[in-house]
Amino acid sequence: MNPVCQLLNIRYPILQGGMGNVSNAPLSAAISEAGGLGTIGIGTLSPVEIEQLIIDTKKRTGNPFAVNIPLSVTPFVKEAVQSMFQYEVPVVVLSAGNPAPYIPKFKENGLTVICVVASVKHAQKAEKAGADIIVAEGYEAAGINATEESTTMTLIPQVTDAVKIPVVAAGGIGDGRGLAAALSLGATGVQMGTRFIATQEGVFHESYKQKLVEANDTDTTIVGRKYGKIRRLLKTAYAEQLQKDEAAGVDQQTFIDKTTEEFHLRGAVQGNFAEGFINSGQIAGLVGDVPTVDGLIQRMVKEAEQQLKVIERLL
Ligand SMILES: Cc1cc2nc3c(=O)[nH]c(=O)nc-3n(C[C@H](O)[C@H](O)[C@H](O)COP(=O)(O)O)c2cc1C
Repeated sequence: MNPVCQLLNIRYPILQGGMGNVSNAPLSAAISEAGGLGTIGIGTLSPVEIEQLIIDTKKRTGNPFAVNIPLSVTPFVKEAVQSMFQYEVPVVVLSAGNPAPYIPKFKENGLTVICVVASVKHAQKAEKAGADIIVAEGYEAAGINATEESTTMTLIPQVTDAVKIPVVAAGGIGDGRGLAAALSLGATGVQMGTRFIATQEGVFHESYKQKLVEANDTDTTIVGRKYGKIRRLLKTAYAEQLQKDEAAGVDQQTFIDKTTEEFHLRGAVQGNFAEGFINSGQIAGLVGDVPTVDGLIQRMVKEAEQQLKVIERLL
């Protein structure tokens, strides 16, 4: 059996990437119901909102789901952990910070711990600290990116060689060919963000989904490189303004103030692309429809099986 499926008690090795503040109970629950692992992204939500999201997700699915804690983003790590223990959330995904101090407590309480990394060094550190699964995320991915800028293609085989625990590939995966490719590189599963936004169950603004459907391969851009705060966004009027500010040399605090969750929500949930931004990975160019989550997962698994047969014939 696939070790990621075994550790997480799920049917397909397809994980939802945490999406701070914007992913929601209907989407996470739908992914878990479809046999993947739904993941609540707590972002900068308040303790009450986090608790409510966990309760809402539990009401919608009896299957395992995860909570993503972006360590350097949320001021409420302690409260999130407390709610996770109270409601017996089985899986935690730690990202955007050093997971080592937090892992023992999760392990003592029986949770499966996933750590998101973007380099071999951090994968090894997370394994040493007790992580069960590594998500290795390449620079193709949506949202906050690592300064190393390693791509998924190069990162996955190097990380799988460097650690013994299972590795899940993230960044640039949107169909069954991507799933088959990740498995071929040595990963045991995939994590997706961008592809899951353009689904029926995602409560993102309809024009965000439409923008992903219309996007082509060159429609994402990077902002914040100058400040060591890299984000991959879809090209919009707001993203262009951020780039102009950066080129004009605005200071780091101004950039941070203009890329807070408030501006993310304006873009992603309100569909206001002039006054807010939307995250997107490079795989947006491949997104061509807005299926149900179940339809998407079934299609991906079938495509991956077919693609692996094609690969066999090619060699
Ligand atoms: C809207 C959005 C918000 C995201 N927020 C987070 C987050 O809060 N924490 C995190 O670890 N990753 C976050 N990510 C990254 C995803 O979890 C995932 O790893 C990434 O999207 C994978 O690459 P892909 O977009 O090419 O599929 C976000 C991605 C998107 C699209």
